[in-house]
Amino acid sequence: MKILVTGGVGFIGSHTVVELDRAGYQPVIVDNLYNSNLDVLKGIREITGKDFPFYNIDCNDTEKVRELFEKEKFDGVIHFAAYKAVGESVDKPLNYYENNLISLLVLLRTMKEFNVKNFVFSSSCTVYGQPEQLPVTELTPRQPATSPYGNTKAIAEDIIRDHVYSRPDIKAISLRYFNPIGAHESSLIGELPNGVPSNLVPFITQTAAGLRASLTVFGNDYDTEDGTCIRDFIHVVDLAKAHVKALERLNEEEKDNYYDVFNVGTGEGYTVLELINTFEEVNGVRLNYTIGPRREGDVEKIYAQSDKVNNVMKWKAEKTMADALRDAWNWQLKITPKK
Ligand code: WQD
Repeated sequence: MKILVTGGVGFIGSHTVVELDRAGYQPVIVDNLYNSNLDVLKGIREITGKDFPFYNIDCNDTEKVRELFEKEKFDGVIHFAAYKAVGESVDKPLNYYENNLISLLVLLRTMKEFNVKNFVFSSSCTVYGQPEQLPVTELTPRQPATSPYGNTKAIAEDIIRDHVYSRPDIKAISLRYFNPIGAHESSLIGELPNGVPSNLVPFITQTAAGLRASLTVFGNDYDTEDGTCIRDFIHVVDLAKAHVKALERLNEEEKDNYYDVFNVGTGEGYTVLELINTFEEVNGVRLNYTIGPRREGDVEKIYAQSDKVNNVMKWKAEKTMADALRDAWNWQLKITPKK
């Protein structure tokens, strides 16, 4: 089965391309390289031994997307391509609403025109805002998003749901990721944000590698055991495998119009300081960090209840946070120029 992977040169997209190949699918990669670079394709080739079709296309470009669907007969789409920096979305909300929502509408319309019936969407736990009760389940009410980025994910879910209910003959799943971290065990692909990382783990590995002077921990006055925020850190390879499981779920589904959402997390919550301590222990390095003020928009604590994805898709996180931090460090060592 041929699967369009938008954002397939990105962090989660590239790891998912590898797992799709391993599961016998034929991935086709689309990416506009806004937050990724072509070296990632070399890493994918070294891991899989294959050159997958790659198109440098912006998913907002209706004509280019239609030409692609005319050329490649897809059996499904996994849609990662989106802007994802929480802080940047506060500064540039119109860019985020336009890019993240127009690309979704273009894809859904083109899928309908070309009769492509299976759609997996990259959503996020950010749609829960700061939940009242933990762990969050899929029935936990969504809270008003704490950022325009988060709001684009919530609105996107509603667009997909309403589209499916109009019975266009499509089956769709939204996967609500928690915090993806780590890298492929080969260190051939990993997280490679352009510019200054906004996410915790790439900032940690770049600091430990001497590329950054010090990490700032954003606040230690939260209502948690050590005062720092709690997150559900999931290995990116486990997350990639969840997308293969989601495609299998769609293929098995008999109903011709189906939509469902799944939390994809480990079910464990760890504080930022616990992650830092684990990073130092598993890698035998000292991390230079200071405690700073809270970051605007941060949720205090969130972690998943993943029973639904475990039961329905038979998917469970297999790797630990320590595995992810070891893999992230090995990846950083690989890509950091030797002094
Ligand atoms: C994690 C924790 C920070 C950087 C966002 C999106 C989510 C997903 C992942 C795409 C927080 C703290 C961070 C730093 C720090 N996006 N931190 N110093 O905000 O939980 O989630 O990214 O898939 O949808 O919402 O991730 O890694 O930015 O922050 O102390 O330099 O680390 O305060 O508590 P976040 P994050």
